[in-house]
Amino acid sequence: ADFTFDLFQGPQVQDDAAVEAATDLTYTTGGGIPHPQPYAALRAGDNGPLLLQDFHLIESLAHFDRERIPERVVHARGSGAHGYFQTTTDVAKKYSAADVFQRVGEKTPITVRFSTVGGEKGSADVARDPRGFAIKLRTKKGILDWVFNNTPVFFIRDPAKFPNFIHTQKRNPQTNLKDHDMFWDYLSSNAESLYQVMRLFSDLGTPDGFRHMNGWSGHTYKLVQDDGSWHYVKISAYTDQGVKNHTNAEATKLAGENPDYSTQDLFQAIERGDYPSWTVYFQVLTPKEAETFKWNVLDLTKEWGPEDVPLQEVGKFYLTQNPENHFAEIEQAAFSPSHLVAGFEPSEDPVLQARLFAYPDTHRYRLGVNYQQIPVNCPFNPVANFQRDGAMVVDGNQGARPNYPSTQEPINFSPRPHSDGNHTEWVGGAIRYLSQVTDVDFKWPLIFWNSLSDTDKEHLVENLSGHIGDVKSETIRNRQIDLFTKVDPDFGSRVAAGVAAAIAAA
Ligand code: HEM
Repeated sequence: ADFTFDLFQGPQVQDDAAVEAATDLTYTTGGGIPHPQPYAALRAGDNGPLLLQDFHLIESLAHFDRERIPERVVHARGSGAHGYFQTTTDVAKKYSAADVFQRVGEKTPITVRFSTVGGEKGSADVARDPRGFAIKLRTKKGILDWVFNNTPVFFIRDPAKFPNFIHTQKRNPQTNLKDHDMFWDYLSSNAESLYQVMRLFSDLGTPDGFRHMNGWSGHTYKLVQDDGSWHYVKISAYTDQGVKNHTNAEATKLAGENPDYSTQDLFQAIERGDYPSWTVYFQVLTPKEAETFKWNVLDLTKEWGPEDVPLQEVGKFYLTQNPENHFAEIEQAAFSPSHLVAGFEPSEDPVLQARLFAYPDTHRYRLGVNYQQIPVNCPFNPVANFQRDGAMVVDGNQGARPNYPSTQEPINFSPRPHSDGNHTEWVGGAIRYLSQVTDVDFKWPLIFWNSLSDTDKEHLVENLSGHIGDVKSETIRNRQIDLFTKVDPDFGSRVAAGVAAAIAAA
């Protein structure tokens, strides 16, 4: 790679003496006290009980006892790498004051984490599931996180549904098993999920590793200029490796034989210098265009479609560096859609609004109140504010500087542009009718069905039939099949026949 950086050194210069000392290591306790050897607990005599004074043993047991931190409540299974984002055009700078876009050619260090959603930390990373696609850009003006998925839409547009929906994808409280009745009970009762469900059960639901899939913001954000003028934007990242998926049979086989397939594929590609890259695009609408656009731009269950809103290239990113330590650099990474630099604002999309709260909330629980001091989360530009103390301060706590806006030792305040607020009357129907399903909700599912090749249609029908065939409740099965029939009668009758065959074969 022609661009590397040291996460733990940041922009500082390496100290030669420290590097030399690190190559000549002596075994020590956590306090740096050289200790003769890691084994041999101290005991009274040859055969007696252990000694409380054996600090080394107690420390090593106590530390071991605390090795696990809470895994992410969703997206627990994942892997990632470092690299850089490069601004390739001056398109973004026309719409946004964000510093990262102002100089064509400039490289910005990034960390990316890919994940599945429903499974636990040790679950198969080839499972049928959406993939998380989270990008942390360490811009010169602070951290910008793009917390995307590998699909342009999502299951819900009412955030109150999220914890309930996720519970149905997790384990049954009694059996501790994944439960197809729970899964389809929810989905068949919440038809706004249909388009995402169809994508998930096509072969797009089992991507061939993390390198061969696209990422999408899903949500609409706002791009803001210095003068307060603004546009709606959706962001996407298209893989330069080409999209490749597993069939259901391949993914099922891999889940047994190599459940770490995607993690291994990414690590090994970077190790051999085959650096994966993605091209980043903006789709942009003016506030006025949004008011009359064919889909409500705040409805996360609808994509815009590149035919209706063209993709404009803004940059590329490359993954060029594997982590030295997965826990420190990937597990402890804290991505949040609310980590937004000047030039970006959230839209009023209610799911996005809920996410702005949920992520830092979970980070404070999962990693602690000072999670932004952990090197992988820490910006490269200096932090100066009035937050102090709390558990696990590791960065000097901003030294002697005043812990309030002192007039004696002032720091600078830089103005942040805000969208000029002339759109407050228009919030879009998605906000008023979060749960009401209308005919519009069946349009994207039909566009998707019509876009599939004969083979892709066959796979979708087969994948759905096998899964729904496991549902015990006939009511739930029929309710879901009715939804597919409403999308397209041929689609519905094919799934109905497939489900009947799966039940007969069971
Ligand atoms: C992870 C909540 C919707 C993408 C998470 C986590 C929570 C969460 C609590 C764990 C974060 C952590 O422990 O660091 C929610 C809620 C949602 C929602 C409440 C809706 C109301 C979405 C949507 C997307 C998304 C719509 C994509 C467009 C991700 C990704 C991660 C994640 C990529 C993993 C980040 C990582 O790799 O650390 N979500 N989520 N989520 N979510 Fe969501």
